[in-house]
Formats: sequence, structure tokens, C-alpha cells
Amino acid sequence: MPDISTKYMGLDLRSPVIIASGPLTSSLDGLKKAEDSGAGAVVLKSIFEEQIEEDASREALGNEQYLSHSDSHEYYAAMARDFYIDRYLTLLESAKKSLSIPVIASINCKSARTWVDYAERFSGCGADAIELNYFPIASNASVSGEKVDKALFEFAKVARSRISGKLSMKIGSFYSSLSSVIKKIDEIGMDALVLFNRPFRPDIDLKSLEVKGAQAISSDTEYGMSLRWTALMSAEVGLDIAANTGIHSADTLIKMLLAGAKAVEVCSAVMKDGYGVIRKMNEGLSAFMDEKGYSTLDDFIGKLAEENYERGDAWERVQFLKTIGQNNER
Ligand SMILES: Cc1cc2nc3c(=O)[nH]c(=O)nc-3n(C[C@H](O)[C@H](O)[C@H](O)COP(=O)(O)O)c2cc1C
Repeated sequence: MPDISTKYMGLDLRSPVIIASGPLTSSLDGLKKAEDSGAGAVVLKSIFEEQIEEDASREALGNEQYLSHSDSHEYYAAMARDFYIDRYLTLLESAKKSLSIPVIASINCKSARTWVDYAERFSGCGADAIELNYFPIASNASVSGEKVDKALFEFAKVARSRISGKLSMKIGSFYSSLSSVIKKIDEIGMDALVLFNRPFRPDIDLKSLEVKGAQAISSDTEYGMSLRWTALMSAEVGLDIAANTGIHSADTLIKMLLAGAKAVEVCSAVMKDGYGVIRKMNEGLSAFMDEKGYSTLDDFIGKLAEENYERGDAWERVQFLKTIGQNNER
């Protein structure tokens, strides 16, 4: 029986399949099902800095009859913040009590502000690691790409200097030079990087002429960006990469490991096909290792990463040189 355990940002995982932050990890019931189905770790549903701050302001304004006291605004805002954080801490504490797999807390951050305090409290309550979900939309035309990158690095630096525990960042793929962004995040000292988040996608309802959300879950063909950038960067950085987006099967999991990922994060596949998909991924991985004669994941993680593969330039190809159907003809 091959050993499918892995070490991801210093955490011992019995399987490389991590359940990504989302609806499945927002309740103890979902977390337990993930563990029972063979997941290696879970990332709790994010606490959203933006939502907390909005609600905190609304709560304060709703009590404006008391706002003649100079400290009232901050008092009501703090109460609203505490409400969210206490609820999150309760889930975290019960997850830590009930599960034996690592529990990673997740914060969706907009800026280097109050979230640092949340992160410190989560570490204090036993989170095995913290994942920071950082996804700015560069919609302000007067802000250059350089400034967008700088804000990301400042954010990462503050996080790293304030949080002493294991820390990862989950980022999007919309940077002009992803390789330099990934390298810099590594230099700042993050323990891991999740490549890539799949953002909310807007769409338009043609009947009501309103903006609505497009399909929330990924399809099983969406893994290409993550595969490419894992392969290009995994041997270049010291941090661990968890591949994310479009991983729906054992085959895609195996491809990500061959490209150099230490683990994968999975959300849509479980939402679509149920928790049984985690077991299928683990079984498919074991069967592949048996067939190839690998006894541990280290026997093949990164085998096809750009630096370890004699035709590594294939990962950089962006144009079709030949038409579909003739790709293998010489
Ligand atoms: C309904 C829904 C809610 C999500 N909520 C979060 C969240 O709170 N925090 C986060 O970091 N990612 C969140 N995600 C993103 C997933 O964790 C994951 O990164 C994304 O869905 C891509 O992986 P997948 O292809 O396996 O679904 C959410 C995804 C979905 C579909």
C-alpha cells in the first residue's frame, strides 16, 4: 500500500487533498464529513474583513442616538466585530476538538488593517495555520500595476511580521509578472502559496437586466493555469504550493503533484459530486503509485516541474504551432 501522506507548510497531512475554504467548511458537520471521507486537512470558510467592517459601521450608525459620546461609534463597531469573531472562534475551537486532521483558518483581507488582530486570535485558539485570501480587483485606472504589486507585498510583509505561526497566501492569477510576484512572496517568508483562487464571476440577467453571479463552481477543465504556474514555479521557490481550481479527479490531483504541488485544495468537486470524491481521489492516487512503482509522494512530486523536466520549455508555450489534431505529427 503506497504512502500518500505529505508535508505541507510543515503540517503532516495523511492525504494531499485539502478541502478548500467555502460552504463545505462553514459548519462542524461539513468539516467532520471531510475528515471521515479521507481529507488531509480543511480550510475553514473565510471570515471576511470587508463584511465585518461594513456591518460594524452599520451597527454603529443604527445606534446613532448614543453617538453623542465620542467613543460610541467605535464601541458599537467593536461589538459587531466581536460578534463575527466569536462565532468564528467557536467553529474553530469545536473543529479543533472534534477533528484530528489540521484545521486552517482563513481570512479574506482587503488591506493591512484589523484582520491582523483576528489572525492573532485564531492562532491563539489553536488554528494549525492561517490562510490569507487576498484578491484585489485592479479597477482603478490611475493605479499602476507596480502599485498593485507593491500593495500585495506590503500586505504580505505586515502579515509575516505580525503572525508567527504557519502562514499561507491564496492569490489570483491577474498579475503582469506572476513569476516575480510568487518569488517575492517566497522571499517575504510565507510558508505556502495557494495557486489560484477562483473569483466570483459577474454575469447579467437578460430578463431583469440586473447583474448576477455566474456559475459559482468550477468545471473539471479549469485547472490549466494552476498546473502551468505550479510547474513553472515549484522548483524555484522554498515555500510549498497547494494547487487550486478545477481539481475534480484523481488524474488532475496527480498532474498537480507531478508539476510540484505538495497538496491540492478542492471545493467545487465536493459540492458537485459529494464527499465521496475525496475517497476516490485518494484511491486513484494509490492506484497510480502502485502502477508506477512509487512508494511515497516524494518519489514523484515535481518530476515534471519545468526545472526537472528535459522538455520544460513546454510549460512556457502559449501559441498553437500546429492545428488541433496534428499536435503529435512531426
Ligand atoms: C460558494 C463558494 C464559496 C467560497 N467561499 C470562499 C471563501 O470564503 N474563502 C476562500 O478563500 N475561497 C472561497 N471559495 C473559493 C474556493 O475555496 C476555491 O478557491 C475555488 O472554488 C476554486 O477551487 P475549486 O475549483 O475546487 O472549486 C468559495 C467558492 C465557492 C464556490
